[in-house]
This record gives sequence, structure tokens and C-alpha cells, in this order.
Amino acid sequence: MDTIQVSTMSSHRPVTAYKSSIGMKLLMGITGFTFIGFVTGHMIGNLQVFLGPEKLNAYAHTLQSLGALLWIIRLSLFTFFAVHIFFGIKLWLENKASRPIPYVKEVNVESTFSSRIMIWSGLAMFSFVVYHLLHFTLIVTNPEYAVLKENLDVYSMMVVGFSNYWISAVYVVAMIFLSLHVNHAVFSMFQTFGLTNAKWIPLLRRIGNLYAILILVGYVSMPIAVLLNIITLH
Ligand code: HEM
Repeated sequence: MDTIQVSTMSSHRPVTAYKSSIGMKLLMGITGFTFIGFVTGHMIGNLQVFLGPEKLNAYAHTLQSLGALLWIIRLSLFTFFAVHIFFGIKLWLENKASRPIPYVKEVNVESTFSSRIMIWSGLAMFSFVVYHLLHFTLIVTNPEYAVLKENLDVYSMMVVGFSNYWISAVYVVAMIFLSLHVNHAVFSMFQTFGLTNAKWIPLLRRIGNLYAILILVGYVSMPIAVLLNIITLH
């Protein structure tokens, strides 16, 4: 959590508003925790591309066979996503409004680059998810994947998709924003759930950094491997 924002909020705003922002932060933490689970699971699942088409496509079939459960998961994720974005924007606007006099010089003693750009990395992720769904799930942007999609040949879809430099570039840039977002998110989530002791801060920051690096390397490895012909069509 950005300590400067909290002290500003508590000194300028009534207690009820402060309490409601704690409630909003809790909602952000709970929904965010779910996404961390999803983002980690989705990455591990997709990394099976390195094991060949059989493994990755079998995984896609398993997901598909979940049927109604898959739809329940999708709807829950969608709802959580909407809640996360709504309250994220609301908190950001409230924090902005609670600074009636702009700082002469931004004091960022406690905050990090990733914490200061949360709203922008978050909006970048929103744009990416919309594009990603249009690309791989609904194949609106690339209807030529239709036959591959019908056969649930996710492996070939990935290779064909990432062979395009522009598409790979979009994914790599988006993954940089994702890693910046989760970097601060992990740190902030621990604080929201009560680990506010100052002596924990360096460790929590390190956990956030480590997780962000793992996510970045894991996800970016896929387009890069396709572009380097490490992963090819079978
Ligand atoms: C290199 C990066 C990624 C790859 C290769 C990848 C791959 C895929 C593929 C192939 C699908 C379609 C599965 C299908 O419909 O058969 C998919 C769906 C999806 N991906 Fe990704 N993904 C990546 C990154 C991400 C990230 C970072 C997020 C979230 C922040 C994400 C969120 C989703 C969502 C929400 C779906 C729809 C799931 C569903 O409705 O079944 N993906 N992804």
C-alpha cells in the first residue's frame, strides 16, 4: 500500500469514507488474489506448449470437457474482473480527490514505480484481455484460425499467432504491464490482509518482485520461443 496515500486520506476525509475505502481495498485484494491464481494457472497450462502439441491440446480438451463448470468459472472471473476494475477506478479517483492541493514535488519515499502506475498498468491489462479474447477465444481478429479452433488445436493457434511479429510485440508489451501490475499487487495484497508491520516490507517487496519476474519470463517465453523457431508447427 502506498503509505503517502493513506496518510493523506485519513487526514483530509471523514472516518466513514476512510472505512469505505478499506472495504473497497478488501474487495480489490480478494478479487486480485483470484486473478493471481488464474494468471499463474493459465501460464503453467500454456507453458505446456514447450512439451509439444499433444500435451497442450490435451490440456485444452480437458478444460473444454469441464462443460458447465467452465462456464461457472468464466462467469465468476468476469464478475470479479468487473468488480476489480470498478473499485480500482473508484479508489484511484477518491485518492486523487483527497489531494486538493497538488504536491509541490511528488514525494515518493515509500512508493515504487509499479505502485504509482497501478491505474495505467491496470487499464493496459483490461485492453489486453479484450484483445486477447478477440484473438484466441473468439478469433474475431484472426478468423483464419477457425479450422484450428474447431479442432481445439491450441498449439498451432499459438505458433501461427506468435509467428506474427506485431502480435508477439503486443503480447510482450502487455506482459511487461502485467508484471508491473502484479509486482505491486502482491505487495499491496499482503498489506491489505493485515501484514502491515514495517519490518515485513522489504520481504513483501521481494516476494512481489520475484513473482513479477516469474510471470514475465514465463509468459514472454512463449512468443519469443515461436519467433526463435524453438517452437514450430508439427
Ligand atoms: C503468452 C501469453 C498467453 C497465451 C499464450 C495465452 C493463451 C490463451 C489461449 C490459447 C486461450 C484460448 C483457449 C481456448 O479458448 O481454447 C486463452 C484464453 C484466455 N486467456 Fe490467455 N494467454 C496468455 C496470456 C493471458 C493473460 C496474461 C491473461 C490475463 C491477464 C489471459 C487471460 C485469458 C482469458 C480470460 C481467457 C479466456 C478463458 C476462457 O474463457 O476459457 N491470458 N489464452
